[in-house]
Amino acid sequence: MKRIVVFSGAGMSAESGLKTFRDSGGLWEEYDIHEVATPEAWEINPELVLDFYNQRREQVLQSKPNAAHHAIVALEKKFDVVVVTQNIDNLHELAGSTNVIHLHGEILKARSVKNSDKLYNVNGPLSIHDRADDGSPLRPHVVWFGEDVPMYELGKTIIQSADILIIVGTSLNVFPAAGLVLHAKEESRKILIDPNEISIGSFPNLIKVQEKAGSALPRAVNDLLSNNH
Ligand code: OAD
Repeated sequence: MKRIVVFSGAGMSAESGLKTFRDSGGLWEEYDIHEVATPEAWEINPELVLDFYNQRREQVLQSKPNAAHHAIVALEKKFDVVVVTQNIDNLHELAGSTNVIHLHGEILKARSVKNSDKLYNVNGPLSIHDRADDGSPLRPHVVWFGEDVPMYELGKTIIQSADILIIVGTSLNVFPAAGLVLHAKEESRKILIDPNEISIGSFPNLIKVQEKAGSALPRAVNDLLSNNH
């Protein structure tokens, strides 16, 4: 069975009503990264950080997978599919994808600030008074700017194993995550779906589809399912 790896970013969930980061009207226009998404921000003003992620969680809980998420699930009929996502929402899983790696964490989880293995499911707002059972405060289970990406090596191995790589809805601006796609095998087929022009340098066997995920992905998936790839 051929392996398809889907590398997704915020644009994947845009048609589910979740804001992207860098588009006009995106989250980083409204918020200062340094005030809400760094370890220093957490030291200085944890309430503001929690408030930002509480809003993200609330919006994720109100959103549903879109046609692009569903299309990826359909690929599992014929391919070994792994989703490597930068997104912290759970829409790939809600759609039914069975193998999803979250490079930047998961908003519906929190963890002890002292022990990153102590994870808890969270379905409502987190407060600075919430504690893990080791007594330490709980923080959102997300990767902040300046922090390591613990799933990086796993993501790299998976992308190296792809026969077909679909890159969708990401500006490829945030490293190290964006650099992962460059580990794809030269001979693997690559499809990049994004309504904006994304610069990726010289990348062999790449097809660019400059269109929204909700229309382009179902079409790409139909093609992959109906032809002998
Ligand atoms: P960006 O906001 O940087 O990029 C979103 C991409 O989605 C852009 O290239 C848009 O053109 C595209 N897009 C918008 N609507 C779309 C649609 N309907 N279909 C397909 N694509 C669409 O988001 P990411 O690249 O995911 O990290 O950002 C990467 C990381 O930066 C995030 O994981 C987050 C952020 O800061 C952390 O918080 C650590």
